[in-house]
Amino acid sequence: HVSKSLVVAIDGPSGSGKSSTSRGVADRLSLAYLDTGAMYRAMTWALLERRVDLQDPDAIAKAADDVRLTSGTDPLDPTIHVDGIDVAGPIRGDDVTGSVSLVAAVPHVREMLVDLQRETIAQSDGIVVEGRDIGSTVAPDAPVKIYLVADPAARAARRAAETGASDTAATELALARRDEIDSTRAASPLAKADDAVVVDGTHLTLEEVIDTIVGIVDAAR
Ligand code: DC
Repeated sequence: HVSKSLVVAIDGPSGSGKSSTSRGVADRLSLAYLDTGAMYRAMTWALLERRVDLQDPDAIAKAADDVRLTSGTDPLDPTIHVDGIDVAGPIRGDDVTGSVSLVAAVPHVREMLVDLQRETIAQSDGIVVEGRDIGSTVAPDAPVKIYLVADPAARAARRAAETGASDTAATELALARRDEIDSTRAASPLAKADDAVVVDGTHLTLEEVIDTIVGIVDAAR
């Protein structure tokens, strides 16, 4: 077992509402919260800052060893620091979003971050962990695994609203491209764990999705 306390794994593609949902579930159940996507984003930010060539997986792997990431797990105030610098804002920028799939595909980066994620899970008294490979790889023993999906158009509309983009079609295309890279990479691709429960949020409000998942957690414990 990764941890004796409750672990809720929430995986799914970009823009499915994972972050708001995961924070809401953690808050409702008084659990900690870990955004693993933010960790891949923070690593990407650090490598861009260091001018590492992101087309070169070996250069990424080498430079990644020197990056110190720390994640705060309060669902009402999740924090992420690189070498002590607060990067919560910059990791949402277009340059990071456009490159993060390249960094997340490098096996050594995944090993490093999965180790950190397992440490955080082990130290918690119960945690909601969101990502792409939580139920399949990071915490395969998690008693609750959710795979959150939504129609591409709904996901694009949500992401465009978050970023203030006016071109929803371009956002949908960018999401599709990132999902393609994330689900076809060799190292722990985006995938539904066999024992994950699929929740489709397309026609549900955020509160309804949170209620659904809280119901699944309550039934499981
Ligand atoms: O959830 P997000 O959009 O912040 O994730 C950013 C990127 O990180 C996304 O392209 C997929 C990758 N990622 C991953 O490979 N594994 C995870 N557990 C979480 C995110």
